[in-house]
Amino acid sequence: MTHQVRAVVAKGKGAPVSLETILVPDPGPGEALVQVQACGVCHTDLHYREGGINDDFPFLLGHEAAGVVESVGEGVTDVAPGDFVILNWRAVCGNCRACLRGRPWYCFNTHNAKQKMTLADGTELSPALGIGAFAEKTLVAAGQCTKVDPAVSPAVAGLLGCGVMAGIGAAINTGNVGRGDTVAVIGCGGVGDAAVVGANLAGAARIIAVDIDERKLATARTLGATHTVNSRETDAVEAIRELTGGHGADVVIEAVGRPETYKQAFYARDLAGTVVLVGVPTPDMKLELPLIDVFGRGGSLKSSWYGDCLPSRDFPMLIDLHLQGRLPLDAFVTETIALDDVEKAFERMHGGDVLRSVVVF
Ligand SMILES: NC(=O)c1ccc[n+]([C@@H]2O[C@H](COP(=O)([O-])OP(=O)(O)OC[C@H]3O[C@@H](n4cnc5c(N)ncnc54)[C@H](O)[C@@H]3O)[C@@H](O)[C@H]2O)c1
Ligand SMILES: [Zn+2]
Ligand SMILES: [Zn+2]
Repeated sequence: MTHQVRAVVAKGKGAPVSLETILVPDPGPGEALVQVQACGVCHTDLHYREGGINDDFPFLLGHEAAGVVESVGEGVTDVAPGDFVILNWRAVCGNCRACLRGRPWYCFNTHNAKQKMTLADGTELSPALGIGAFAEKTLVAAGQCTKVDPAVSPAVAGLLGCGVMAGIGAAINTGNVGRGDTVAVIGCGGVGDAAVVGANLAGAARIIAVDIDERKLATARTLGATHTVNSRETDAVEAIRELTGGHGADVVIEAVGRPETYKQAFYARDLAGTVVLVGVPTPDMKLELPLIDVFGRGGSLKSSWYGDCLPSRDFPMLIDLHLQGRLPLDAFVTETIALDDVEKAFERMHGGDVLRSVVVF
């Protein structure tokens, strides 16, 4: 059987998204069909629409989602119809060189659904991050479904599926923030604020939030930032150094994805400190740094893919912490919207008005 559902599609570079009826096949071997209950609007969706990821239009957007498994294909044993799940874009294969070395959070061969979802005329869709969840139903690999406690609200849970996990993980997994560390986060949107929350959870002594928008800094303060720097008015590197005894922070997390903010992160860390790049640059961006500084400042320069998370390990744990009142994930849901409001939500994101707009079905 093929399911006809409404979905948000980006048809061409830079063009506004449109609401389309798409065709979703029943799950084949290893696949699951999920009734989407909520899906957040992430900056990466906008990158797709702008052609900043690749040119495989049309894209079925949406990838920060939670929902209920409707049916599963042959051989699926880990999830069953009725399970409440967060969708992930790291269904680990178990066989690639990363998995075999015991580092599945780097898995180089993650699974997605094999069958294609299409437009009504049969044109194949490219689902954003192999998910495509601005749709009433979506087809994924069963391993992309991670079961969590259904007591959590779907709008909150879905955010862990991408941006919030990327940010928390950038701090606790990639940056390995520990008790007493000083941390700076450059760019305090959904991802950067989640890094603030992650640094707080890990016991950082000082958390410096940097943004060019006062509203974002105000939110970062409510989420655990101990200091804020408006880098439109103040030199971010100098300010971070001043707040860390003149040395720079132990861990600096870049959550914008631009060469100039990466440079700030590079120079705002202490000697032998760590830079974590979680912001996603576009293919045309270039970085120029004196090689002597790369050597002379030591430490490590890391990228964080999806917060180096392992969904099966991290999602249930973080949802449990949230339900215990120890992780303010609900603060990331600025507004809930309808499926046909995604284009408006992009504008609001662009205007810096929201941490996350979440489509609720
Ligand atoms: N690595 C991953 O796995 C992963 C996952 C999800 C998203 N991302 C990326 O993370 C980045 C942030 O995503 P988001 O959803 O939080 O976006 P967002 O638009 O909500 O937030 C970006 C923030 O950066 C601030 N900013 C912009 N220019 C700045 C500058 N020059 N200096 C300081 N702050 C500046 C903005 O005011 C805003 O608060 C994006 O590049 C997104 O694609 C990465
Ligand atoms: Zn693998
Ligand atoms: Zn995302």
